[in-house]
Amino acid sequence: MPSRVVVSAPATIANLGPGFDVFGLALAEPADVIEAHATAGAEMKISEVTGVGAGKIPKDPSENTATIAAGKVAEALGREGGAEFTIKKGVKPGGGLGSSGASAAAGAVAMNELLGGKLTDSQLIEAAAFAEAQVAGATHYDNVASSIVGGFVIVASTDPLECIKVEPPKMKIIVAQPELELPTREGRRVLPRKVELEKAVANVGRASAMAAALKEGDLKWFGRYMLDSIAEPARAHLIKGFDEVKGAALGAGALGAAMAGAGPSVFAIIDPKENPKKVEDAMRAAFEEAGTKCETLVTSPGPGAKVVSRED
Ligand code: HSE
Repeated sequence: MPSRVVVSAPATIANLGPGFDVFGLALAEPADVIEAHATAGAEMKISEVTGVGAGKIPKDPSENTATIAAGKVAEALGREGGAEFTIKKGVKPGGGLGSSGASAAAGAVAMNELLGGKLTDSQLIEAAAFAEAQVAGATHYDNVASSIVGGFVIVASTDPLECIKVEPPKMKIIVAQPELELPTREGRRVLPRKVELEKAVANVGRASAMAAALKEGDLKWFGRYMLDSIAEPARAHLIKGFDEVKGAALGAGALGAAMAGAGPSVFAIIDPKENPKKVEDAMRAAFEEAGTKCETLVTSPGPGAKVVSRED
């Protein structure tokens, strides 16, 4: 078994419009990178957290999703595995790109490697989702499932956990990340407890159309139905300029645009051959007009968590 592993786990976009808690998409970048050393005893330790927003990340292993997930992995294997972690954050915390999920995914995969790599993807997803629930206040599998297995993931069932991975069509993804932090816990607090039948029907229709579009590899159809009647409208008021930014992306030619997970980031998709600049500029300008500074990044769908290096 290795004594040291380095694991990278990608940022993700959850929901993608109508797939609340069901759809997740792994991104080619950014990613969190975690180095884990096996130690004697059962103790988990975090020696260092660096990178974007590192100051906001708890170093107490009982509060950090990477070490909570690693502990769950050891428990699932019936082992008293202890480890020391170094966390390099590439995914901005509270930004809507599955930051805590990426750390949880990397922590779970790293610990599994240190202990012999016996857990299945579903078991790793369970461990990472348990960790996410500690910080988000509710269990949701979409971010961690896509960060672990990569590509586009449909969380088809949670009990038992069944995730379907689909290779998404090639696309460019433009993300506008406002200088605003919106913890998932807050984004979930404003959700409706009951959903009107018409809205549920509309969302099922669109999510089904997106799944069919994936099968056909039809990006236009996929983007066209990326519309949510349930979570996004309830959360929009938390993000100053949200409607305008989404409208600006579509106005500039994006095939679809939506809130990234629980926000505050907004993302848009375009054909992979298109130049992203027009959509990127339009989204940035709309946020700025609303008085919100923002950064943009252009990425694409990517693979799941991977072992970058290992030492025996
Ligand atoms: N499905 C989750 C939510 C994703 O919308 O709350 C959080 O990133």
